Amino acid sequence: MFSNENLKIPHSAVSVRNVHKTYPGGVEALRGVSLELPAGKITALVGRSGCGKTTLLNLCGAMDFPTSGEVEIAGLVTTRLGDAALTGLRRNKIGFIFQFFQLLPTLSALENIELPLLLAGAKNIRVTARERLDWVGLPEKADALPYQLSGGQMQRVAIARALVHNPAILVADEPTGNLDTTSGDLVLRLIRRAADEFGAAVVMATHSAEAAAIADVRVQMRDGRIEQLT
Ligand SMILES: Nc1ncnc2c1ncn2[C@@H]1O[C@H](COP(=O)(O)OP(=O)(O)OP(=O)(O)O)[C@@H](O)[C@H]1O
Ligand SMILES: [Mg+2]
Repeated sequence: MFSNENLKIPHSAVSVRNVHKTYPGGVEALRGVSLELPAGKITALVGRSGCGKTTLLNLCGAMDFPTSGEVEIAGLVTTRLGDAALTGLRRNKIGFIFQFFQLLPTLSALENIELPLLLAGAKNIRVTARERLDWVGLPEKADALPYQLSGGQMQRVAIARALVHNPAILVADEPTGNLDTTSGDLVLRLIRRAADEFGAAVVMATHSAEAAAIADVRVQMRDGRIEQLT
């Protein structure tokens, strides 16, 4: 039987279309960037400092907006959304990982992981947070405060927090930038599994060859443009 379903082209989790970004003051950080982020794939943004990686990540995470062009996240064009819809999009669809972990210092590991679920008004918060803590291999650290963890352990807690609400998109800015090789490798393995097991569309900015190597697509950027995909 002929059905409209068959005509549907699979949607990218994020679609960046001819985006320009000029910051107040006049820096042209992005100059005509188009990119698709497919579910279950890791896209690495590489290129020298200042080429626009973090700027592009912020657009992919609905944390900032293009000056022209469009960013569509989970079917929604970010510049067409009001504040409530944007907050909902960030809380429900996107997980973030940062170079310096950004854990809240007065909350335990488990409480840090619970936080996105609390904000989203989810049910079974404790059980889900515990599952993620187990998933990153730190079941014994539930009550530890961030200062009691190593850098690698903090980043694993941050990954658990980023994935606790099953986000469609995982945005990672230099996730191994502050880690030694062994901890960095562990973190990269978890990011790979986030794409494979959770089906997240991962977009990661990195200066690390090891991190770029786990990606499905490497986006070489230069002066606000995409130079090549490999
Ligand atoms: N909030 C801002 N206001 C003004 N200019 C900015 C802002 N953020 C970034 N820029 C400028 O935009 C350009 C791109 O910066 P961006 O942070 O995206 O680069 P990057 O590739 O992430 O660099 P790095 O590898 O050092 O993290 C740079 O020239 C930077 O100085
Ligand atoms: Mg950056």
